[in-house]
Amino acid sequence: MSDISRATALAHPNIAFIKYWGNRDDALRLPANGSISMDLAGLETRTTVRFDPALRADSLSLNNSAMTGKGLERVSAFLDLVRRMAGFDLRAAVDSRNNFPSGAGIASSASAFAALALAATKAAGLDLTEAELSRLARRGSGSACRSVPGGFVEWLPGSGDEDSFAVSIAPPEHWPLVDVVAILSGAHKPTGSTEGHALAGTSPLQAARVADAPRRLGICRQAILTRDFAAFAEIVELDSTLMHAVMMTSAPPLFYWQPATLEVLAAVRQARSKGLAACATVDAGSNVHVICEQAAGEAVVKLIGSIPGVREVRAAQAGGPARIVEVE
Ligand code: DP6
Repeated sequence: MSDISRATALAHPNIAFIKYWGNRDDALRLPANGSISMDLAGLETRTTVRFDPALRADSLSLNNSAMTGKGLERVSAFLDLVRRMAGFDLRAAVDSRNNFPSGAGIASSASAFAALALAATKAAGLDLTEAELSRLARRGSGSACRSVPGGFVEWLPGSGDEDSFAVSIAPPEHWPLVDVVAILSGAHKPTGSTEGHALAGTSPLQAARVADAPRRLGICRQAILTRDFAAFAEIVELDSTLMHAVMMTSAPPLFYWQPATLEVLAAVRQARSKGLAACATVDAGSNVHVICEQAAGEAVVKLIGSIPGVREVRAAQAGGPARIVEVE
């Protein structure tokens, strides 16, 4: 091990345009299908990892409160992977902070494990390539592999652990899209995505969704590369609806949508038919991510802000890759 023992890294969350739902291998987080996303600028997780011979156990501070139980176990299991790669057995103190509140409609596990993968490997004296780092982040949370590269990102499902990682397909400045998140009031804590992935295969619709994924990925990738908003909007909405159809038909069924979710979806569809460059996608929760061209941003904020049941609106542009901010 080199003399580096402490590092701080930063990563952005991401919003998926073509969704990851279901694994071929839950333990390795090998996805049933590839996915495409955009990193979200301005929103970030900042994580410091310190490996220290004086520590008897791993510790995790999340937004300044000490975590125990499942949260700490998940981080500790992830640190075991880093310790194995580094060939040492030191315990670590992890301090992680989000600049966005949990419950803001933005999942934090992607930015959390991308930042943790980068900070922990640097602190361990390892220098991983982007692909290696993405592979590692994937083991903590599938979508975290997509928060390692910058801008518009595709997770290649791969044939196994070695080749299942994410790559950038275009830099953030390639297409100034904005994710305007409609945060709904009264949303309660939904079934987490890890539990949801494990149920995906029980839906009779999952096989059809997965079989058609390469086609949707191709259309979405091409629409991003050519900045074709009409094609992009159609495929993003189809993909989100397909995932929710699988969720609603799994055993037990998962219904994430609230009445206001449908209202926002309908308002966006109607506005698009009148020429507004906006479309909508929903993750494992009830909040709606309205993806629009920058010029449509103001109109979108106004449109969804006026819908009863929308508590708050938050906007983010395309962001950069996970990066180191400090090494000691
Ligand atoms: C609906 O990456 O959060 O947001 O690997 O269990 O941490 P774990 O799951 P996670 O799943 C994301 C599900 C999704 C769709 C997506 O982001 O692609």
